[in-house]
Amino acid sequence: MAMKGKRILIVGSGGREHALAWALARSPEVETVYVAPGNAGTRWPARSDRASAVPVPIPAEDIKGLIAFARERAIDLTVVGPEAPLALGMVDAFRAAGLRIFGPTQAAARLESSKAFAKELMRRCGIPTADFAVFHDLDAARSYVRRHSSPLVVKASGLAGGKGTFVCETVQEAEEALRLLIEERVFGEAGETVVIEERLEGRELSLLALTDGQTVRPLLPARDHKRLRDGDQGPNTGGMGAYAPVPDISGEEIEAMARIILQPAVEALARQGAPFTGVLYAGLMLTAHGPFVLEFNARLGDPEAQAILPLLESDLLEALEACLDRRLEEAPLRWRSGSCVTVVLAVPGYPGPVPKGIPIFGLEEAEAMEDVWVFHAGTADANGQVVNAGGRVLAVSAWGADLAAAAGRAYAAVSRIHFEGMHFRCDIGRARPFR
Ligand code: AMP
Ligand code: GLY
Repeated sequence: MAMKGKRILIVGSGGREHALAWALARSPEVETVYVAPGNAGTRWPARSDRASAVPVPIPAEDIKGLIAFARERAIDLTVVGPEAPLALGMVDAFRAAGLRIFGPTQAAARLESSKAFAKELMRRCGIPTADFAVFHDLDAARSYVRRHSSPLVVKASGLAGGKGTFVCETVQEAEEALRLLIEERVFGEAGETVVIEERLEGRELSLLALTDGQTVRPLLPARDHKRLRDGDQGPNTGGMGAYAPVPDISGEEIEAMARIILQPAVEALARQGAPFTGVLYAGLMLTAHGPFVLEFNARLGDPEAQAILPLLESDLLEALEACLDRRLEEAPLRWRSGSCVTVVLAVPGYPGPVPKGIPIFGLEEAEAMEDVWVFHAGTADANGQVVNAGGRVLAVSAWGADLAAAAGRAYAAVSRIHFEGMHFRCDIGRARPFR
């Protein structure tokens, strides 16, 4: 019996959204994946083995425009990629319009959009996180910093595109961060409230989980590489690469982290009348005293999604639908064995201002490799030529039987791609830099 194929709308334009489009298009139920606004990679014709993808020229934050589009095209499910539309209340607005949408409400997304809210919730629930204080006033914040001799981290409480965190060595650095946030307002409203916390030491881990507001099902653990250059040097970026799973973490440890970190956060939000449905992402520091939460995000990570989703063997659509129907407990979540490594290719200047319109070559050669996925991030189509439209241009993912094999394949694919000034880290998923 022929069934109408489902139409999915993905909101966002980065590598994470391209990976979501790819993963959802694999579902036997899906006919078309619309991506608003998408990029040069989120456009492909239907082939016998998967659905088609269609970019939609509506900005990710145009809630009204997207609701109108979803109605007009009879979209069956909308999936929100980035944090900004969540913080603007996109999920609330879609639900009020009677449309099915995957992601947390504005109130639940405060776990990401307000670090002060998240820290206070963690303190109340006993979720391990660095000691902290919240300030609105420069003088009060300064005197707190001066009273502390231990190294501190100063954070804008609101959304700042991953750039609002200052890991400080000295009191002077902390004072300068406070001045930038509160006096200079470099992140505007997002820095009106600041969180000052103790600096932790350890390796980082991204623990992402699906949740239906009650049940929590962790995805494979991933590790992001936030610094621009090899060996974790240079400025923080949105993420220069990732791998999954993380070999130094066992399945039991993941279960324990879900129990002591994710589950209590989900329960606390439910008790507050703001149940969280969507992907809950804990950025963790694995310290000598156990895992501590650095931050919560209310969505899939980018580039973690590009390393995690290629390993998902079961149907992503089925898992997302199970979250919305509050039956996540029964949803199948099966993973391919082996590892996935994702290398981000950036243009010169990133994470600062970047040139646009640089032509990109070798995409087809890289995509032709088996077990390689070239996810587009900041790309656009200029009369048939793919050019860059942002700092992070591509996320090249590859599967391998183990981390070393996956990294080898990812870098082999990277070597087929070239564009002017192409910059990437050579140590993603590798103990030592490769070149
Ligand atoms: P966040 O914006 O909170 O995710 O922080 C961005 C990055 O800053 C993290 O990935 C860490 O590398 C670093 N960081 C954040 N909080 C701390 C902390 N308390 N101690 C040490 N490093 C931190
Ligand atoms: N990769 C970090 C983030 O998505 O926030």
